[in-house]
Amino acid sequence: MLAGEHGEVVERNFRLLVRLGEIYGADRMIHVDSVQVAGVSYKSIGDPGLEFLEDMANRGAKVKVPTTLNPPGMDLLDWRELGFPEDFAEKQLQIMDAFKKMGIAMTATCTPYLVGNMPRFGEHIAWSESSAVSFANSVLGARTNREGGPSALAAALCGVTPNYGLHLDEKRKPTLLVKVNAELNDNSDFGALGYHVGKIVKDGIPYFKGIKKAELEQLKALGAAMAASGAVALYHVEGITPEARLMSPNGLEVIEFGEKELKEAYAKLNTGESPDIVILGCPHASLKEIAELASKLEGKSLKKPVWICTARATKEAASKMGLVEKIEGAGGKVVADTCTVVSPIERMGFKCTAVNSGKAANYLPGFCKQAVVFNNVDELLRKVLA
Ligand code: F3S
Repeated sequence: MLAGEHGEVVERNFRLLVRLGEIYGADRMIHVDSVQVAGVSYKSIGDPGLEFLEDMANRGAKVKVPTTLNPPGMDLLDWRELGFPEDFAEKQLQIMDAFKKMGIAMTATCTPYLVGNMPRFGEHIAWSESSAVSFANSVLGARTNREGGPSALAAALCGVTPNYGLHLDEKRKPTLLVKVNAELNDNSDFGALGYHVGKIVKDGIPYFKGIKKAELEQLKALGAAMAASGAVALYHVEGITPEARLMSPNGLEVIEFGEKELKEAYAKLNTGESPDIVILGCPHASLKEIAELASKLEGKSLKKPVWICTARATKEAASKMGLVEKIEGAGGKVVADTCTVVSPIERMGFKCTAVNSGKAANYLPGFCKQAVVFNNVDELLRKVLA
């Protein structure tokens, strides 16, 4: 590939991977079984990103391994009905075309593991969406660094990644012990915990003790929040995540997370009072989360917009189950493909957004100029039910 036998695009991308490997002291390249590419929304990459992707696609770039895509900045089918701006949509669709030409699956989700890209324990992958990186490393035991958009794309086009960082056993050890004494019930509690710990541990690896039970949805909320307030790409939860039993937290610095810290995290994430819209599904909602929302909204009526963001494949399953109908019957929307943060909601008249996600609450003020109401789903719905 480096000698140009696979064409100029592959050669250029392989050089990028070699450079990355040199910087981080990698001993060799390793095969990756899947790639997940971020940097999809026109809002994030703008015209320079679009031009870069179109140039690659026009030069014949094709992925060598199964590759899935992060959310774009709008629902790819219902964008007009939902009020997304025309000029934005035009550019976003051009971006999607470029990715499609390269052979990338149009999954458009930050939860690829829920819709067919599910790595096995120990598998080497190159993913770039930070919440998905955290889930793959921590909950599934797969191995990926937190790739940038270009390095993930290079891995997809070459089928390899440099062997460094979280691909190595010794780099997966915990760096901080977190003793959790607070009672965690809702997904938002896990988001608040993640927000608090991410700020302290930064790009380290926390080891949690004291979390008695955590559902898949709660683990995705926890990882997403830590990846946003810090740069956590891997965490361990005693008795829950697969590599925790291989690790010892003895001798690590210890922090405590009790009811006081939980309350403080909620207080910090709340910057608004009266939401214009409630947006759930960050990271993208599972079928279970959509079913729960449908049962809460069945027969009710909403006075403000409520969106639940999810992958298109999940929306289709929810639709066949009659869940979308129940949510829409109350005036809510199941919004596919896109997400709270990468969509241009600030251009759509919204100033205060309510969320149950620690990640979204952390990013919305900066990326979308939103005041934020952060709470669990029941409390958020109480504010917007007629
Ligand atoms: Fe996914 Fe967007 Fe949240 S990419 S994790 S829904 S900020």
